[in-house]
Amino acid sequence: SRSKTTIFVIFGGTGDLNSRKLAPALYNLFLDNWLPENFSIIGTGRTKYTEDDYRNTLLKDINEFSRSGEADPAKWQEFANHLHYQVSDLNKIETYQEFGQRIKTHQEDWQTTATVIFYLAVSPNFFEVIAQNIAACKLAEDADNTRIVIEKPFGKDLDSATALNKLLGGLFEEKQIYRIDHYLGKETVQNILAFRFANSLFEPTWNRNYIEYVQISVTERLGVEDRGDYYEGSGALRDMVQNHILQLLCLIAMEPPVTFVGEEVRNRKVDVLRAMRPFSSEDVRKNAARGQYGEGWIEGKQVPAYRNETKVDPQSNTETFAAIKFFVDNWRWQNVPFYVRTGKRMHEAASVITIQFKDVPHLIFPGEATDNWQQNRLIISIQPEMSIRLQVQAKRPGLDMVLNTVDMVFDYKSAYTSYTPEAYETLLLDTIVGDQTLFMRGDQVEAAWSLIMPILSAWESKKSVNFPNYSSDSWGPEIAEALIARDGFHWVTLPQNNKKK
Ligand code: BG6
Repeated sequence: SRSKTTIFVIFGGTGDLNSRKLAPALYNLFLDNWLPENFSIIGTGRTKYTEDDYRNTLLKDINEFSRSGEADPAKWQEFANHLHYQVSDLNKIETYQEFGQRIKTHQEDWQTTATVIFYLAVSPNFFEVIAQNIAACKLAEDADNTRIVIEKPFGKDLDSATALNKLLGGLFEEKQIYRIDHYLGKETVQNILAFRFANSLFEPTWNRNYIEYVQISVTERLGVEDRGDYYEGSGALRDMVQNHILQLLCLIAMEPPVTFVGEEVRNRKVDVLRAMRPFSSEDVRKNAARGQYGEGWIEGKQVPAYRNETKVDPQSNTETFAAIKFFVDNWRWQNVPFYVRTGKRMHEAASVITIQFKDVPHLIFPGEATDNWQQNRLIISIQPEMSIRLQVQAKRPGLDMVLNTVDMVFDYKSAYTSYTPEAYETLLLDTIVGDQTLFMRGDQVEAAWSLIMPILSAWESKKSVNFPNYSSDSWGPEIAEALIARDGFHWVTLPQNNKKK
């Protein structure tokens, strides 16, 4: 274990995120000995649980959602001793005074000061009141040892994100503020930096001289599930592009940082966002496409159109799909298109980054040899398949000269037998040890909002939209195909035969 005494206060301790992600991740960290000897997790919510009730609900969650499966009774008991519950009304100052008291008691018992982490796994409506009260009760005075973790969404547009940064900045230091983007915790996403900056082979070609385009495609099978009320005020652009996809784009496009240290990495990432070409209204029309799913069949079951989902307006114009062509105006990337797309209820769940290299300068092979010609591609598959493949041309065995594409594959499943931690394990541990590398800095969030504001506003102001425009289980609307086909390209998917069923 490499961490020091820690107290987690989890706001939203009875919520969905805690059940599915936080509690299982903390339990796994505990099993793998990453948690300190002295730690305490204080869940808080409105439900009138006793401490035992609370422990029992979390046990159920952990059995269901933890990668380690059904909890071992002895291990669980040991872990459960660290779990506490406080019924609370977040609007009352007494709630926070009580936290203060508990923190004090723990520290007295342990005879040491603890790192205290306030995890805001609640609706953004509560961010302000929680932050104000933590500050009012002086619970985060020690900037080196107290941290605030903020879940998404961080604002709903540039103004609200700026206001939230301002509020938090007035109460805490930036080094105390951990803005979560769970994509950054994914193993394959972290590996982008290793792949780029721990190998000498790729960096010399990683620029406009050799790269024709970059694609980032994050497609999901799931629909909106029971999150209609949240999603109606969000849509795909806010939900996925402003955060996850732009973060991926930054990792692909950033300059090499001087060292692998939080601020260095974050500086280079924000440089990318600042260099991105702003959208005129003409650009929005040409380079941004949106869609909304209609009904269809998924795994043999009929699924409703978005407009018929629960808590969704039957005339909703909220987009469940977005495709955008971005540019990064700097020396490295001038005029290299970055095509991104994301959608729900798509034909396949896959998060894939494709880098297509430029064609050979001169073709020496006869026409018939090159019927299956494909330019070199590097394909980074983030999930569910975890792999990096380099697609190259090779001679097919035989007496005639025929070329085809073969894949040189690094596949996690065959390369490693060790388990892959969940994103939240990585991120929670980082909050304990105080490493902000994989968290979004305030200026990054604002730069990302600035970039997408023209698209958001244009889409929101045009009320009559012809939705639905793609059916469930398809690859999205025609206009998204057109957006990329115009440039002579198409959206890339992973080769079929390598996919798990
Ligand atoms: C969340 C979005 O941030 O990311 C969801 O709110 C989306 O709508 C999810 O489904 C995707 O995350 P993952 O880890 O399943 O790819």
